[in-house]
Amino acid sequence: MTTARRLRLPGIAYGGDYNPEQWPEEVWAEDVRLMREAGVNMVSVGIFSWALMEPGEGRYDFSRMDRLLELLHENGIAADLATPTAAPPAWFFRAHPQALPVDRDGRGLSYGSRQTFCPSSPEYREAALRIARVLGERYADHPAVVMWHIHNEYGCHNAECYCDVSAAAFRRWLRERYGDLATLNDAWGTAFWSQWYYDWDEIIPPRATGAVPNPTHRLDWRRFCSDELLSLYKAERDVLREAAPSIPATTNFMVNFSIEALDYWRWAPELDIVSNDHYLRSTDPESEIDVALSGDLVRSMAGGPWLLMEHSTGAVNWQPVNRAKLPGEMRRNALAHVAHGADGIAFFQWRAAKAGAEQWHSAMLPHAGTDSQIWRDVVQLGADLEALAEVRGSVTHAHVAVVWDWNARWALEQPSQPSGELRFVDLVLDWYRPLWHAGVAVDFVRPDADLSSYRLVLVPSLYLVDDAGAANLTGFAERGGTLAVGFHSGAVDTNCHVRLGGYPGAFRDSLGVRTDELFPLLPGESLALSDGGTASLWSERVRLEGAEAFTSYTSGPLAGTPAVTRHTYGEGTAWYLATRPDPATLAALLARVCDEAGVQPVLTAPVAGVEAVRRNGSDADYLFLIDHGGSGAEVPADGVDLLTGKEVIGSVSVPPGGVAVVRQAR
Ligand code: GLA
Repeated sequence: MTTARRLRLPGIAYGGDYNPEQWPEEVWAEDVRLMREAGVNMVSVGIFSWALMEPGEGRYDFSRMDRLLELLHENGIAADLATPTAAPPAWFFRAHPQALPVDRDGRGLSYGSRQTFCPSSPEYREAALRIARVLGERYADHPAVVMWHIHNEYGCHNAECYCDVSAAAFRRWLRERYGDLATLNDAWGTAFWSQWYYDWDEIIPPRATGAVPNPTHRLDWRRFCSDELLSLYKAERDVLREAAPSIPATTNFMVNFSIEALDYWRWAPELDIVSNDHYLRSTDPESEIDVALSGDLVRSMAGGPWLLMEHSTGAVNWQPVNRAKLPGEMRRNALAHVAHGADGIAFFQWRAAKAGAEQWHSAMLPHAGTDSQIWRDVVQLGADLEALAEVRGSVTHAHVAVVWDWNARWALEQPSQPSGELRFVDLVLDWYRPLWHAGVAVDFVRPDADLSSYRLVLVPSLYLVDDAGAANLTGFAERGGTLAVGFHSGAVDTNCHVRLGGYPGAFRDSLGVRTDELFPLLPGESLALSDGGTASLWSERVRLEGAEAFTSYTSGPLAGTPAVTRHTYGEGTAWYLATRPDPATLAALLARVCDEAGVQPVLTAPVAGVEAVRRNGSDADYLFLIDHGGSGAEVPADGVDLLTGKEVIGSVSVPPGGVAVVRQAR
């Protein structure tokens, strides 16, 4: 929220997606009454209302939206008004069947769900911009409207379309990137397997092939798909800006979702307010760590506070088995998002649907009605957020930066790698998890970010790095910082070409090592380490070229070879983790690296099971203590617990499974 277009709302925003079109209008009065009871102050409306707002091409019916916005306004509830462009109506596809997407296998998809359109379709773009303009002009001055919610989760279901229209758009994007075919052929390494292109029209999306696709072709395709959706976002945003220059615009990200995810580093600067959606995975035993990682990543992209646009009060409906939340878990999740920088907390959705594809998704007002645990928790959370109003706008100062890069992720997870077992998010989580347990605050950064405010830069996985990113990271160590790099990083350049001369390519000199051969490990295989730990997933034959061995293998074909190395480089230090140590060994190693870099945790003595996060306000600091362990704790602190209103002298009690937020004077 660094732009001039800010959210005109006091305190922390609280609410959810509100889809009253799913209900007869008699229900609306009860909705707003209950919203007030719960302390809801902002709802997202109109997200999936296209078919009702534009019943036929160019014919509009805004009567329902007019009444809804009036009702919200009369009740002091602000509207985050969506452009409905994530779900084009059936009439649109009947008129423009060519706007339907085609999947990788050449299968044409049909309408009848949502987000089933080709992102490159000119007909879709025209229709989307038309409804965005009409909506923007109609409601630009409506007092209820405080934000534009553009589209919904771009790319959630249609990040890729392989049709001929997309193919032409891909070629245009490539012409812009490469200028001429010789440069493209070189970048893609098309001399390999006779893939040389003599005419731009020969280039198609990486459709299903009999053998492995060209990695650079696929990587550029991912970049193109992200940019193509971004251009749709920007086009809608510009139309709305013209209509209402002071209303901020957002679109809801999904930062730690699938491989198809978008390059949000390129997206974030285009948003007035960064917002994100986060859902727990039923199978994740430590989902609080996923919440924290997501929050840190979004805060880093926003460069400050952000909004949680969606999460769930209970179970979702799109996993094989949809777990309900445990007692207190929803409150812990929501307040953890606030701890990690959210200035607004919202859910999908306000009232649980009785019909439609998401009838089994939890909501703020469940099927059971107000005599329910979820409703009581929703009311409690509303009171909590009101008590935390002053936290709004406060920031977090981390001394540790973790590098996160979507290009590296896309490239790493291509087929035909030395190991198909490497998953970018898992590799980052391996390092993030012990830092979370230790209560060390981290930011996420791009490889080419300004690193001057950090003491320690961690690079858990950066298979692909461009020259500028590599120079930035190694320069950080050279100038006195501490850098730690994970295996198989720096391996390829921006075109996915191997950096020759030994691994880990771009980082070889700064790390003071040279690897001549990779020895990835089979699932279940492990090696013994000289410090008593074990290693899995990966190993490589490292030769020291200036670095010292910190740990070596004591079993397997590489026994005696360094597994973890430390190198004095320029004024700083560069560590290389050439394998994946077991969790306890990795935690000890990162603790040592933090210590050496002078990085302190949030609490001098971290308490097991209690997440500690600090936000810094202009007059005070806010210490969030969240008990995920279930035993509660007494934590040293002085100030006021904003959630209980009680003065804190010497220590604060965090109830079992509960939360305390202590305002600490500076
Ligand atoms: C996404 C969408 C919502 C809803 C939820 C369900 O986040 O944005 O419309 O489908 O998932 O979890």
